[in-house]
Amino acid sequence: MWGGRFAASPAEIMEEINVSISFDKALAPQDIRGSKAHAAMLAEVGIITKSDAREILRGLDQVAAEIQDGSFEFKRALEDVHMNVESRLKEIIGQPAGRLHTARSRNDQVATDFRLFVRDTTDAIIPAIGELQRVLVEKAEAHAATVMPGFTHLQPAQPVTFGHHLLAYVEMLGRDRGRFVDARKRLNECPLGSAALAGTSFPIDRNKTADVLGFDRPMANSLDGVADRDFALEVLAASSIAAVHLSRFAEEIVIWMTPQFGFITLSDRFTTGSSIMPQKRNPDAAELVRAKVGRIAAAFQGLLMVMKGLPLAYSKDMQEDKEATFDALASLRLALLAMTGMVQDLEPVKETMRAAAGRGYSTATDLADWLVRELKMPFRDAHHVTGSIVKAAEDRGLDLENVPLDVMQAIEPRISNSVYSVLSVENSVKSRKSYGGTSPQNVTKMARAWARRLEKESAGR
Ligand code: ARG
Repeated sequence: MWGGRFAASPAEIMEEINVSISFDKALAPQDIRGSKAHAAMLAEVGIITKSDAREILRGLDQVAAEIQDGSFEFKRALEDVHMNVESRLKEIIGQPAGRLHTARSRNDQVATDFRLFVRDTTDAIIPAIGELQRVLVEKAEAHAATVMPGFTHLQPAQPVTFGHHLLAYVEMLGRDRGRFVDARKRLNECPLGSAALAGTSFPIDRNKTADVLGFDRPMANSLDGVADRDFALEVLAASSIAAVHLSRFAEEIVIWMTPQFGFITLSDRFTTGSSIMPQKRNPDAAELVRAKVGRIAAAFQGLLMVMKGLPLAYSKDMQEDKEATFDALASLRLALLAMTGMVQDLEPVKETMRAAAGRGYSTATDLADWLVRELKMPFRDAHHVTGSIVKAAEDRGLDLENVPLDVMQAIEPRISNSVYSVLSVENSVKSRKSYGGTSPQNVTKMARAWARRLEKESAGR
């Protein structure tokens, strides 16, 4: 491509470090889209002839078809996807192919291709998040009154409902979705026409190419146009946070699946056996979702480090933006799909959850609240009295709801029989009607509101 100046071929090791076709061939569809938009615009403003443009478009369609059907031969010697496509175009249509690269550089070309790729992937991730939310909401509504222990420090804290727990993830995923939607808005500006770095002396129409490629507008500064990778960083940051959420949830599935907890069952569809221990059922899918955050967050860190300290405008360093980004976005999508499948598949073991919810004096706060409400005790004093009653229960090996009245009265004489009404886990969750609280009534209401919102969001796309 630059034989005019160069007499010798690159050293073998130069080619080895420089070549990117093995991974940037993934950008071929975006590259061809970008080239078609560029060629059409060049003809429209009279920089190339209409007949040359027709040839170019026809040739690019054939290249796309060859890539699609697998007959296209990607060549290492041609370095990257841009030169592979252009060189094949030349084989197909001859001389007009040489006019395609007018008023363009690989710098704005790759910036456009990569941006389109990240946008396309974002457009697939957003509904995948919505679908995971949808199945969570469905399960949450079905289990709005299924009682389970709520934890802090992974110690039983207060009873909650399974539906409430699932809706917590719906909230997190809602913020994740918002981050992707937000990043998409900001990334939707077109670098094409920035050329190598300074713009071009040809009378190109950047609004035209931006529009054809679905961008809101052309990027306003040509140096920024070729040097910016914020769009990938933002989407990777959003991906990292989403992956952290999935990882936390996956960890809970792993814990809940253990015989020690026994809170949920997952069917054969989302578990594996052991090659040596016949009794095992392993939550491999959850474990892998839990782990994916490693590569996703690493991709974010990796690209931050690549971009750090790079002078304007383009440097070849930026070729290192692709592999990890491709991998991270594919991994996130896979993790979302696997999680969606697991949520649909899992079933809570209600009796086990219910029994566990009652252990560990989980309604002690309800007792303290009763003392405040009925006896007008200051909360701090109520906390102290409740502590003594818990100790008495512990000494006798009893749950709170089974501590005899006289034992409680020995600690606080004004306690009456009505205290038992707040000591059951069902009554405990029912009473938590404050906004955002775990009462089945709240959970049902929230689940229905989310279902409506998700339906609107998916219709709005
Ligand atoms: N393969 C290159 C990349 O991914 C394309 C841009 C090459 N530009 C250049 N000036 N060498 O960044």
